[in-house]
Order: sequence, then structure tokens, then C-alpha cells
Amino acid sequence: MKIVIPGGTGQVGTILRQALTTAGHEVVILTRRPTRDREVRWDGETLGPWAEEIDGSDVVVNLAGRSVNCRYTPANLRAMMDSRVRSTRVVGEAIAAAARPPRAWLQMSTATIYSHRFDAPNDEATGVLGGTEPGVPGYWAYSIDIARAWERTQEEADTPHTRKVSLRTAMVMSPDRGGVFDALLRMVRLGLGGPVAGGAQYMSWIHDHDLVAAVEFLADRDDLTGPVNLAAPDPLPQRSFMRVLRAAWGAPVGLPATKWMAEAGAFVLRSDTELLLKSRRVVPGRLLEAGFAFAHPRWPEAAADLVRRVRGDTPA
Ligand SMILES: NC(=O)c1ccc[n+]([C@@H]2O[C@H](COP(=O)([O-])OP(=O)(O)OC[C@H]3O[C@@H](n4cnc5c(N)ncnc54)[C@H](OP(=O)(O)O)[C@@H]3O)[C@@H](O)[C@H]2O)c1
Repeated sequence: MKIVIPGGTGQVGTILRQALTTAGHEVVILTRRPTRDREVRWDGETLGPWAEEIDGSDVVVNLAGRSVNCRYTPANLRAMMDSRVRSTRVVGEAIAAAARPPRAWLQMSTATIYSHRFDAPNDEATGVLGGTEPGVPGYWAYSIDIARAWERTQEEADTPHTRKVSLRTAMVMSPDRGGVFDALLRMVRLGLGGPVAGGAQYMSWIHDHDLVAAVEFLADRDDLTGPVNLAAPDPLPQRSFMRVLRAAWGAPVGLPATKWMAEAGAFVLRSDTELLLKSRRVVPGRLLEAGFAFAHPRWPEAAADLVRRVRGDTPA
């Protein structure tokens, strides 16, 4: 297959590019700064010669969007919104204009679209979308607005010959530098990987190999459209999640952090506490129903596998 990946230079794109190329597919990346073979320039906003790559391709996986790992200032939130909506809109325009449109458009979305809740897991059928939860900082609703606008932009695209799926993806756990697993492991190595603000908030996650397999599965199946949760079936409270990771790494202690310590740490790291404090309890209802088999469904085994790969004991 020819697979075009707008925004494919980041963490998720690097994982997909490597795996899909190894599987024998032709992969083309759309980026604002091409540096490598099979990278094509676009601006994420306007149609250009790059659209010729989409015409005649088999699948588009759009990942583009300003990183969410930043302070949620008004300017950054606006950039997070605009980069997602505009890039999704223009991908839709390129597909609409194609003489031979791709058969599938897998559009990145986020598990963060669901409500901050502890009581029950969110699947696609019964899950509650967030934005009106009491007792959370008002600006958290903006992340939900972004996610909804992102999905709406894909829904509104007039691409009748292309199957559209939105990937409500949980945190992608991979052994490479700069990803979320790397950041969590760094805390563990410093002895800081304990519960944050009590640690009752759920962490949803997906192992990188399952992310790739799910993307291939969704690209191949011609009957699935709309939102699909890309999350392992085993979300767990942050304190348990970190306890398992400490055990996998062999770290004896993990100091707890209060909400205020998390605020200070996030400030220093130019990140935002929403990433740590929001309860994301998301499960893969539609993937399981469709017969997708997770290779790494449970966190203890997945964490052990990732630690082995970080230590170089098994191939990445
Ligand atoms: N990583 C996760 O765990 C995770 C989980 C759920 C959802 N997601 C979502 O999945 C997508 C990819 O995640 P990632 O971790 O790979 O992100 P990333 O490392 O930040 O990469 C995102 C890519 O988007 C492009 N981009 C950034 N700003 C842009 C703009 N203004 N206009 C057009 N393109 C822009 C960049 O490509 P160039 O600079 O090369 O143009 C960048 O490589 C993101 O939308 C993210 O929100 C990620």
C-alpha cells in the first residue's frame, strides 16, 4: 500500500513510518521541514503540490498538530486548536479533489475527548464526552473543544469515496527518547515516580506495537467508520500504573507528589498538569468487538517489555 502520513515526523509518526516501511508499504511523510527521502513539504493549511501524493494513495493517516506537551497558555491552546483543525480540513480538501481518492482516512484524535471520571470506563458506545465536569479547572474544557473540533472537521469533509475513522488514542508507550514512556521512566529513575495528587486518576495507554497493529487493522477493514478508541483494555489508576513501572524497572521507591508539587514540576518542564491529573479511563470497545487481538493488553507485561527494550535486551 501507499500510505501518506501528514505530521509523521513526531513520536507516533516515527513509530508508524518504521513499522509500515518494514512491513513493505510505501510511506510518504508530509512535513513543514522535509529532511529525508520520501518527505514532502506542506504547510498544514493550504493545498499545494503535496496533494498529488494523496491522489492515488491507499491510506492517509493524519497526525499533524502542535504538541500538547506545553503550558496551556491561551496562545498555545489556540495553536493546538488551529494546527489540528486546519491540517484536517486541508487533508479533507486534498482527498475531495483527488481523481483516485484513498480508500481510508485515519484521522488522529485523542482519548482526552472523554470525561474526567473514575466511576466507569469510557468506550465509544457508552462513554461520556468531557467538558462539563464539575470541580476541574475551566481550561480543561478547551482540550475537549479541540478534540471535538478536530473530529468534526473530519466528519464534515466531503469525501464520499473514502472511509473515515477517528483514532481516539491514549498515551502511546514506546521505548524511544522523548516519548511519554521515556518521561515516566525518567521520573522512576530519579526516585520520583510515585502517586501524583493521590494517584486515583486513571491512565489510559497503548503499547507501540499494538498502536501499529491497530492502524493496520483499521486500514484493512472496510466496515469500520467513525470514532475508535486506541487504548489497551487495562487502564489503571496512576498510583498502580507507576507502582507497576517501578517494579518493572527495579526501582525501590517512588516519592509521592502533591498537586502543588506537580504544578511546580510541570511549570519547570514547560508542560501542563492536565496531562498528569486528568482521569482518562478509556477502553477499546469497538476494536475488541471487531476482533482485534492486543499483543500487550495488560500493563505489567507491557511495562516489562518496554523496559527490556529500553535496556537493549530485545530488539526495539
Ligand atoms: N504521542 C501520544 O501519546 C499521543 C496520544 C494521543 C494522541 N496523540 C496525537 O497524535 C498526533 C501525533 O502525536 P506525536 O506524539 O507524534 O506528536 P509530535 O511528536 O508533536 O508530532 C506532531 C507532528 O505534527 C506536526 N505539526 C506540529 N505543528 C504543526 C502545525 N502547526 N501545522 C502542521 N503540522 C504541525 C509536526 O510535523 P513537522 O514539524 O515535521 O511539520 C510534528 O512532527 C498529535 O496530534 C497528538 O496530539 C499523540
